[in-house]
Amino acid sequence: MFKILEKQVFSPIIKQMVIEAPRVARKCQPGQFVILRIHEEGERIPLTIADFDREKGTITIVFQEVGKTTKQLGTLEAGDYIKDFVGPLGTPSHIENFGTVVCVGGGVGIAPVFPIARALKEAGNHVISIIGARTRDLLFWEDRMREVSTELFVTTDDGSYVRKGFVTDVLKEIIDERGKDNINLVLAIGPQPMMRACCNVTKDYGIKTIVSLNALMVDGTGMCGCCRVTVGGQTRFVCVDGPEFDGHQVDFAELARRSATFRAEEQRALERHTC
Ligand code: FES
Repeated sequence: MFKILEKQVFSPIIKQMVIEAPRVARKCQPGQFVILRIHEEGERIPLTIADFDREKGTITIVFQEVGKTTKQLGTLEAGDYIKDFVGPLGTPSHIENFGTVVCVGGGVGIAPVFPIARALKEAGNHVISIIGARTRDLLFWEDRMREVSTELFVTTDDGSYVRKGFVTDVLKEIIDERGKDNINLVLAIGPQPMMRACCNVTKDYGIKTIVSLNALMVDGTGMCGCCRVTVGGQTRFVCVDGPEFDGHQVDFAELARRSATFRAEEQRALERHTC
């Protein structure tokens, strides 16, 4: 059993928890994820690691309540326990001094961008971060992202905070202003349409773009095939080959179709949970 040490509510649907998981914290690297199960009968859900503290033996997760399991998770409080917390899973982010890297975090995707941006900055990169959310209430960790970025840009879709617009608007402006040859890498994490849109922007400029895919998962160890995606015409497993891939090679249309496979069942489970 894994104890919830702290809980913070960023908005009615976005919550942060610090989990006591020393063995995960000892080994995890930026870009990796965990699969958790709240109780014996529970669904297994993957969540990318938002932060870790090796000395305290803790892992920080940030999640958005979108279905039954994340809503149930959101009802737990500090002092409660989670049944399973398996990790670290997946391949860590590739960190080196690329030069100038643009890190884009959309919505709850801001959380997994954080440790990667921090590692990239520590490796000597000039880190330009762009974070965005639909509205001010859904934006979090502006202060933490500022700490690990050389420059930070903030957007909200509805203009309720800082700049109105999408992260892709800022991304395009930065590339146009500084020149495509002065941007060495783009990292984009967030909702699938956002990552796809970022890739569409950068593809025209020929700037390598890494995305972190959020696929359906069961075992998380490459055995069930549930998380398969097509990347560069080849079948890859998000849980072991990813979650990060070259965004220009990802078949986002197929990923979106596969992600919607159990939407009706998910909706029924949610209705049963809330009724
Ligand atoms: Fe089963 Fe990836 S979750 S193969």
